[in-house]
Amino acid sequence: MSTSDSREPAFWDERYQAEKTPWDFHGVPLSLRRWLQANTQPKRVLIPGCGSGYEIKAFLNAGWDAYGIDFSPVAAQRAQAFLGEQAPHVLLGDFYHYAFENQFDVIYERTFLCALPPDRWVAYAQRIKDLLVPGGQLIGFFFYGPEDDPPPYPLTQARADELFGPELALTQDEAVTDSLPLFVGKERWQIWKKR
Ligand SMILES: C[S@@+](CC[C@H](N)C(=O)[O-])C[C@H]1O[C@@H](n2cnc3c(N)ncnc32)[C@H](O)[C@@H]1O
Repeated sequence: MSTSDSREPAFWDERYQAEKTPWDFHGVPLSLRRWLQANTQPKRVLIPGCGSGYEIKAFLNAGWDAYGIDFSPVAAQRAQAFLGEQAPHVLLGDFYHYAFENQFDVIYERTFLCALPPDRWVAYAQRIKDLLVPGGQLIGFFFYGPEDDPPPYPLTQARADELFGPELALTQDEAVTDSLPLFVGKERWQIWKKR
């Protein structure tokens, strides 16, 4: 049965099955490629709502101990197929409830937070804070809109400060130059560091 609730895995299964995935970059965005070139001491990274899994491979190839998690079985299978023998780095599960054995040095965000209804954002921010080691970083793409017809749901800087502060401090904030049509002029590359 079809669902319009993005809190349900079936919502995402349907879209991946129908190839209705306007958020899918089919590769690794420039800001992350640059970040990987500059950060040459690989550690442990988590990619929540990893979708097709391109960034998992990019982190793994750069030497990181990388894991993506997605609760849509169709998305997880898609990422596993893309990763081939690295498929065990794709976890099928709910970001909010999965029992990770260890914290992460980096969490990478792209089109996960903006896909969640805003009533899930406080729990997202708390989960990020809990999963990062002290000094760890939340890096990635944050959707600031404007957006007349969400989803994607836009952040404001005040809302982001409220969600992530005071435990996380914004240390980098840049325009994105290779956005997909859905996000042009509306997303920023940001790094939030845990104190
Ligand atoms: C808009 S897609 C973005 C996928 C990927 N990050 C990308 O950039 O292509 C959002 C993804 O988050 C996943 N997702 C949503 N809620 C989730 C949850 N609670 N736990 C794990 N994955 C979730 C969906 O299944 C979907 O693959």
